[in-house]
Amino acid sequence: MSRLVLVCGMAQEGKTTFAFTKLLASADRLFVLDPVRSRPFNAKAEDAEAGMRPADVRVFRSYDEVAAFLLSGEARGKWRIMLRSENEDDYVRAIRYARHYRHVTLLVDEALVFTDNDEALEPLIKASRMGAHFGGGTGLTMWITAQRPMDLPRDIRSQLTQCYSYRQTEPGDLDFLAKKFSPEFAAAVAGLAPHHVVMFPPDQKAAREGRQGELEALDRGRRGGARDPVGREQEPRLGVPQADRRLSAEETDETHTLAAHGS
Ligand SMILES: Nc1ncnc2c1ncn2[C@@H]1O[C@H](COP(=O)(O)OP(=O)(O)OP(=O)(O)O)[C@@H](O)[C@H]1O
Ligand SMILES: [Mg+2]
Repeated sequence: MSRLVLVCGMAQEGKTTFAFTKLLASADRLFVLDPVRSRPFNAKAEDAEAGMRPADVRVFRSYDEVAAFLLSGEARGKWRIMLRSENEDDYVRAIRYARHYRHVTLLVDEALVFTDNDEALEPLIKASRMGAHFGGGTGLTMWITAQRPMDLPRDIRSQLTQCYSYRQTEPGDLDFLAKKFSPEFAAAVAGLAPHHVVMFPPDQKAAREGRQGELEALDRGRRGGARDPVGREQEPRLGVPQADRRLSAEETDETHTLAAHGS
């Protein structure tokens, strides 16, 4: 199973909407870092135009609140939470303590915010390595969104295990996608229509086996079409099962819940 996933592509293509939709449908424990107040993370009531946050996603304003939640009995089982803080240090802490998260999917929206900041970069790189190499042990799956793959530092790019891309036009980015993933993938990315996305590897089975298969475009309908991205009709058509691995009985056992946090 993929552990470090990049969703990239030009501004306003739908990266955040896509990542949030996918993970709402598949992650048993979802922790969203929202440093730039992305519109798709607004509740519908707050933002009828683009908001899509379901009512059961709990929003915390500081990492202290998140830590208290993670250590509480409520953190057993399934949940989705979001950190929306004014203070960058809260996000830095959320990433630094990622090594303690168990069976959590961390969605880091707008990774550029973190890669620009030396304080945050080091823990982000560490979390990337953990996701990519020790995912089975720590249970951390990390998804990050960024406009351009080349905005990410090499240490993170090199760890990527899966990529969803909207259209890219910069030669440097296309070159990276061709070398890291495949020339066919890069060519598909360069030719995408607005709001279409392609993934690499093209399906979960191929991802596990480290091979490449057919690429399929996602078409959620035209802009201005149906607005509910979590609705069934908008389910991305990727030709792959939407549900990622579910927690097994063993994994939901108490001994596998969140480890205590350092201060
Ligand atoms: N498949 C789609 N079809 C049509 N419109 C879409 C689609 N996906 C997202 N949108 C719309 O595009 C706009 C941008 O979406 P979103 O914020 O998810 O994009 P983004 O790539 O994360 O943008 P940014 O680069 O600003 O972070 C929103 O208004 C959203 O409703
Ligand atoms: Mg976004």
